[in-house]
Amino acid sequence: MNDNFAAELHRRATAALQAGRADAQGQGDRVPVARYTDEAMARDERRLLHRHPQPVAAGASLATPGAWLSLTYIGVPLLLVRQENGQVQAFLNVCRHRGARVVPEGSGSEVRAFVCPYHAWTYKPDGALRGVPESFGFPCLKQEESGLRRLATVERAGLVWVLLDASLAESDAGAALGALMDNLESLAGLRTPVAFAPRSYVVEANWKLLVDGSFEAYHFKVAHRETIAHMFMNNMQIVDEFALNRRLYLVKSKFPQDQPGVDGFDPRRYGNLTYFFFPNTTILVQPDHAQLSSLEPLGPTRTRVHELTLIPEAPASEKAQAHWDANVALYRRTLAEDYALAESIQAGLASGANEALTFGTFEYSAPRFHAQLHAQIAALQPAP
Ligand code: FES
Ligand SMILES: [Fe+2]
Repeated sequence: MNDNFAAELHRRATAALQAGRADAQGQGDRVPVARYTDEAMARDERRLLHRHPQPVAAGASLATPGAWLSLTYIGVPLLLVRQENGQVQAFLNVCRHRGARVVPEGSGSEVRAFVCPYHAWTYKPDGALRGVPESFGFPCLKQEESGLRRLATVERAGLVWVLLDASLAESDAGAALGALMDNLESLAGLRTPVAFAPRSYVVEANWKLLVDGSFEAYHFKVAHRETIAHMFMNNMQIVDEFALNRRLYLVKSKFPQDQPGVDGFDPRRYGNLTYFFFPNTTILVQPDHAQLSSLEPLGPTRTRVHELTLIPEAPASEKAQAHWDANVALYRRTLAEDYALAESIQAGLASGANEALTFGTFEYSAPRFHAQLHAQIAALQPAP
């Protein structure tokens, strides 16, 4: 771990605790409720999400060359294949003949060819078009240009991140993950973790309500009084921004504030680190593991949440299994508290009680995120 980063967090958390104030900005802000209900905005957001890296799978789920996974993510049919060179490549899972889905949803550990179920055009694991039945009927077909469309794919922190917009390049994915990803991967056990206890489920709320809730500890002592509130200092978050991404340090009750400059300070022991990758991915870093939650908008008022726990190695004993099970159970109970509140907010948005939601100075990360999102959407080219 980068010692400067640890020492700086220690210094800032100590100062914040002494002042009795978390990081804060401005005079508070308001976000119009239409941002959480508007159909047109949801369509624009979908296009924007296609332009930011999405963690669509755990790298360990594609263990060896030839392993493949077919899934749909934010409306895009995807095919992931680990290549002979060890890298995972994502493709649009769409036939170049007349557009059928080539591979049904599922996974496998070995493949020699993918055969389209419509007319049996056949693709190699590297996406190249290998065969066309009765090819004399396609005198103008350039076979070498008719492979499956590739999507920019990078494997970082044990996850396969894909840019769903085929016009973007790997360098765009690397730039978007940026210095925050470098920092995450510098933490012990998080460069090549394995996935544990994945699950997906639907929350009846706009995805941004779930994002808002990850940006402050103001709600802990109330909403999480039965689960994690006792472990944390009240309303104490230290925020660092990395372009559009950010990292929050949520300070725990046992933080050693009476030991300034403590040697070998381990921030993970004394607080949770929330790594937020703009605009819809959160990785919550705990002392010996991390929890991914990625948000897949299904519409303005529905979100599919994908959860995954990242652990250093597969559990090798019952004791290890029980340790990770207990961590996952607490995480799920805590998130259930957050998501029940998000659903209650969504249900009340149309009532007219509020034209806008109100955020305090120490909740500034949420309205700032909304402003950034709005600016990004405004910069999109008009839909074709
Ligand atoms: S659509 Fe795939 S072979 Fe015809
Ligand atoms: Fe929460």
